[in-house]
Amino acid sequence: MSALSVKKAIFPVGGLGTRFLPATKSMPKEMLPVVDKPLIQYAVEEAAEAGIEEFIFVTGRGKSAIEDHFDHSMELEQTLQSRDKKEALKLVQSMMREPGSVAYIRQQEPKGLGHAVWCARHLIGDEPVAILLADDLILPKKGQKGCLAEMVEAWSKTGGNMVASMSVAPEQTASYGIITPGENAEGMAGPLTEVKGLVEKPKPEDAPSTLAVVGRYIIESGVFAELDKQDSGAGGEIQITDSLARRIGHVPFHSLNFSGTRYDCGSKIGFLEANIAFALARDDLSSDLTQWLKDLNV
Ligand code: G1P
Repeated sequence: MSALSVKKAIFPVGGLGTRFLPATKSMPKEMLPVVDKPLIQYAVEEAAEAGIEEFIFVTGRGKSAIEDHFDHSMELEQTLQSRDKKEALKLVQSMMREPGSVAYIRQQEPKGLGHAVWCARHLIGDEPVAILLADDLILPKKGQKGCLAEMVEAWSKTGGNMVASMSVAPEQTASYGIITPGENAEGMAGPLTEVKGLVEKPKPEDAPSTLAVVGRYIIESGVFAELDKQDSGAGGEIQITDSLARRIGHVPFHSLNFSGTRYDCGSKIGFLEANIAFALARDDLSSDLTQWLKDLNV
């Protein structure tokens, strides 16, 4: 394997989704659909587009619907076949990944994002790995690649650690990992910024900036060595933010201001916005929806 390519991705999907009760009582929050596709499928497709070949889900109890979603559904496929529903059959079969390329690891207790990532350590070894949080749904700018593909391309020149980033309102810093930005990286004018410091969910008065981490990461093996220490941070949880921060000065660390738009599908308003935005971006829905929005006249 060449040193600067990313072939593996971790999808932490163990969270309870309490903000979406009752919908998430018996259904994983990652299976909530935006238009007609579950959040987790958007994340998997974004990873595949970026060249990821191994998909590692860190799950928890009650998440088996995710495993079923990426497996054959024999009865459905046979029925579609016998009814000659070719398009629908193609759709459900096209989601299948190469046999052996999908793995599921259980996180027995919800001990934080860093802990979830650490649970996958034996499947990663010394390789770099991408992390995608399905709650952070990113609509690519028209004609542009997805966020992770943009990151992989930039990272192939920098190596080290990389996060996706965006500016947030000052009063929102306590919901994000917040970056102390350095210079824009040489030769990368614009979207790539050196990360000089990183802190998890600071109060606005303590925040070093308003540049926030969005749920896309590329990490090197040194981060796992830090996670091994199992130190807990903000909220008493093991934070990936803290382990990344401890790698500053040892390896390059950059944030990429990606070109797409991020929707916080962990919140109701973000989820509603995502549904509208993704539908408006679709040829089969945009004109009817635009008309309906105009008629609403609110
Ligand atoms: C996690 C990370 C945080 C990051 C955020 C992006 O927080 O811990 O650093 O900014 O994802 O969505 P969570 O939203 O899981 O609380």
